[in-house]
Amino acid sequence: MIVVLDFGSQYNQLITRRIREHGVYSELHSHRLSAEAIRDMNPSGIILSGGPHSVYDENSFRCDPGIFELGIPVLGICYGMQLMTTHFGGEVSKASNREYGKAVIDLQHEPALFKDTPASQTVWMSHGDKVMKAPDSFQIDATSPSTPIAAMSNDDRRMYGVQFHPEVRHTEHGNELLRQFVFDACGCSGDWTIENFIDMKVADIRQQVGDRNVLCALSGGVDSSVVAALIHKAIGKQLTCIFVDHGLLRKNEAEEVTATFQDDFDMNFIKIDAADRFLSKLENVTDPEQKRKIIGNEFIYVFDDEADKLSDMDFLAQGTLYTDVIESGTDTAQTIKSHHNVGGLPENMQFELIEPLNTLFKDEVRELGLQLGLPESIVWRQPFPGPGLGIRVLGEVTKEKLEIVRESDAILREEIAAAGLERDIWQYFTVLPDIRSVGVMGDARTYDYTIGIRAVTSIDGMTSDWARIPWDVLEKISTRIVNDVEHINRVVYDVTSKPPATIEWE
Ligand code: XMP
Repeated sequence: MIVVLDFGSQYNQLITRRIREHGVYSELHSHRLSAEAIRDMNPSGIILSGGPHSVYDENSFRCDPGIFELGIPVLGICYGMQLMTTHFGGEVSKASNREYGKAVIDLQHEPALFKDTPASQTVWMSHGDKVMKAPDSFQIDATSPSTPIAAMSNDDRRMYGVQFHPEVRHTEHGNELLRQFVFDACGCSGDWTIENFIDMKVADIRQQVGDRNVLCALSGGVDSSVVAALIHKAIGKQLTCIFVDHGLLRKNEAEEVTATFQDDFDMNFIKIDAADRFLSKLENVTDPEQKRKIIGNEFIYVFDDEADKLSDMDFLAQGTLYTDVIESGTDTAQTIKSHHNVGGLPENMQFELIEPLNTLFKDEVRELGLQLGLPESIVWRQPFPGPGLGIRVLGEVTKEKLEIVRESDAILREEIAAAGLERDIWQYFTVLPDIRSVGVMGDARTYDYTIGIRAVTSIDGMTSDWARIPWDVLEKISTRIVNDVEHINRVVYDVTSKPPATIEWE
């Protein structure tokens, strides 16, 4: 395993990703981790990430200097290299301006980490301060016109520093450099796979849980489904899943979830039909934030009521992912919408948490789900908001309006699948704005609802662009919706990116 210490660089998640792509398990940890704690983890190597600080700032992030004495290879990237420099007695100069973008470095000899790469190569720089004098025990590996010490090393101690970012694709041979570090310097074998991960986690879960019991709030989304399948593999019937059907799910979704977990996996599976309870709470409520809060709170009440009936539950399983863990530590962003996750932790519950996915990225979770035997329809499910169709019926939520969204959404999904576009479009759904307009059907005037189609491409939902669905596919969708869904006489396509719009309409 390679431990990456986080000094706040925007690229630090990428480092762990790149290492895992080489079949070597890697985790990102706080720079505050002590040398003893790191030694106990028994890593093969340590990477010090970049970061926004100057080593001279009073409040700059530091690491335990003891890590340089553990005998474990260390690679310092950018700020990490500067820390290494000051630790070993070299000099870092304070910058008056930043160097940002591509640069060409020239190798000074044949440095170990640059084996079999060209003498002159393009790298990605993003730094202010730079190393002006390498520590005495280090040799200079590469220079660039503006950065006299772009890379340095002490081969005997297996300590390496690079001023540029090897984890970023713009660094031409960055991947080879990381490869060289993990295999040659750290001696990793590169045999980490999702199957190993399953074995490792199953053993961990069994040890953590013993003969006690685990409760899981299953939403049918990818993360909670994979958590349930993984824990089930480890402890079987010691796991109980509660699935709250709040009546705001898509067409056939509740049935699919039930069939998979209750029938195929034969889990302890409790399905609560709470549609009426949610609908009555939403009566006459039109404000989006209030709707979200009501749905989120009600979910917790329903879950709480049910969990209370199960007396001997000790753990609550959560589908927390790596990105959630990392982002929750640093996220200072303004709340645009109060996001609610089905399965969110009820505040007053007395459970120990079990979060077996909290070191995985989304694509790894999908691969894990497939390995565990979950159907593709669940593993590749598009993101679906916790408040469900409740925020896709704009304004007051009623049974009739939910039905309109559900049916039109099902048609949209069928046609997107028929056109083979499922994996190209990140998220696609219909919304029911609270407006009616005039139309003509047969010879008669109609005055009915409009359906909005929202389809976006995105990487992480933070920003998005509207998907360029071919006209003929849109035409088919529109024709089917107005023909097959009662009370719809108009279909519109949302052509706004995020920002300025959000993906959901509420
Ligand atoms: P917005 O509308 O904020 O959505 O651009 C970004 C992504 O988040 C999803 N979303 C939610 N997911 N609980 C969730 O779990 C929520 O309350 C929620 N609201 C929005 C949305 O579907 C999109 O993928």
